[in-house]
Amino acid sequence: MKILGIETSCDETGVAVFDTTRGLLAHSVHSQIALHDEYGGVVPELASRDHVRRLLPQVESALSQAGMKLRDLDAIAFTEGPGLAGALLVGASVAGALAMGLGIPAVGIHHLEGHLLSPLLSADPPTFPFVALLVSGGHTQLMKVAKAGDYVLLGETLDDAAGEAFDKTAQLLGLPYPGGPALAKLAEKGRAGNAGGHFNFPRPMMAQMERNGSLDFSFSGLKTAVSLAWRQAIADKPADEQTRADIAAEFQQAVVDVLVAKSMVAMDTAGLRSLVVAGGVGANRELRAALDAAAKRRGRTVHYPELELCTDNGAMIAFAGALRLQSQVADPQNAVQRRGFSVRPRWDLAAVGEVNNPS
Ligand code: KG4
Ligand code: ZN
Repeated sequence: MKILGIETSCDETGVAVFDTTRGLLAHSVHSQIALHDEYGGVVPELASRDHVRRLLPQVESALSQAGMKLRDLDAIAFTEGPGLAGALLVGASVAGALAMGLGIPAVGIHHLEGHLLSPLLSADPPTFPFVALLVSGGHTQLMKVAKAGDYVLLGETLDDAAGEAFDKTAQLLGLPYPGGPALAKLAEKGRAGNAGGHFNFPRPMMAQMERNGSLDFSFSGLKTAVSLAWRQAIADKPADEQTRADIAAEFQQAVVDVLVAKSMVAMDTAGLRSLVVAGGVGANRELRAALDAAAKRRGRTVHYPELELCTDNGAMIAFAGALRLQSQVADPQNAVQRRGFSVRPRWDLAAVGEVNNPS
């Protein structure tokens, strides 16, 4: 089965062709970073318009890279949500129109399901069941994954997402958008509190975990602590580069400490030995090193998507679509054959199974 994957939920236009027998045949991502840079964040209307400009040419070049024509496709998978409504509509309407014209199914995919299944495309794929740590710009969640489509929420952020905390802290420190990679780079030159640095920020929600096993996260207090420290640091003298780097390093360490501790407890709670990390923040090197070390100490394994598939892309959407179609083929009652399209700007991942397999 050959599937075209389309991702347009935010500021990346991702297109890919996945073949269930031959694997990933083509994959391209156009990032809008330069477009939104001067605004310090994503401008939804500009994002939608850029998807309109890029999507069809990218579909054409992905097909030619895969050595295929439109009529060779068996299905089209697109990101149905969550995300920016206008941006999602571009992908959904192109997928719906192509599917209708070609007489093939269009499958709406949950963006986080795409991220969550993306490590299965790597050279060292995990096997079900596993715990997934989803850390993106909009979400921070721990999920128990029994199989594709069966997701149980173990914990999530009560306020800012981990990526959002990286982005906001980076902005405060005067770093360019998107802040996560820029802050991580600056942190390389800094020292966290436990490595001789002068700053000690809170590790939010750790006490709750020790008290009642809570796997929820909260990053807004950490953001406030950074903001206070930064204002004090620049109150009576211009900021020096080492102070900025030390703040970045301690902030990153605080986020990493919390994500690692909760991921380990989540595996205990779920009685599972493997962890899958997905979403943009999963590209963070310090997070990867700390998760690997903690898992190794406990005789557990951690799986990541290939680095280029950590951030938004069409490959993960095509792949999730393939898994969904393969499982639906076994159950003709649930066959996905759309004649319209919809988007879900807000969509709970734990409800994906219910939506796709109504009982
Ligand atoms: O999954 P993603 O590409 O898009 C969303 O669905 O949100 O994640 C983007 C987020 C941004 O907040 C970005 O700053 C963060 O991932 N990010 C990072 C790194 N690379 C991307 N955060 C920390 N360290 C990184 N190396
Ligand atoms: Zn994403």
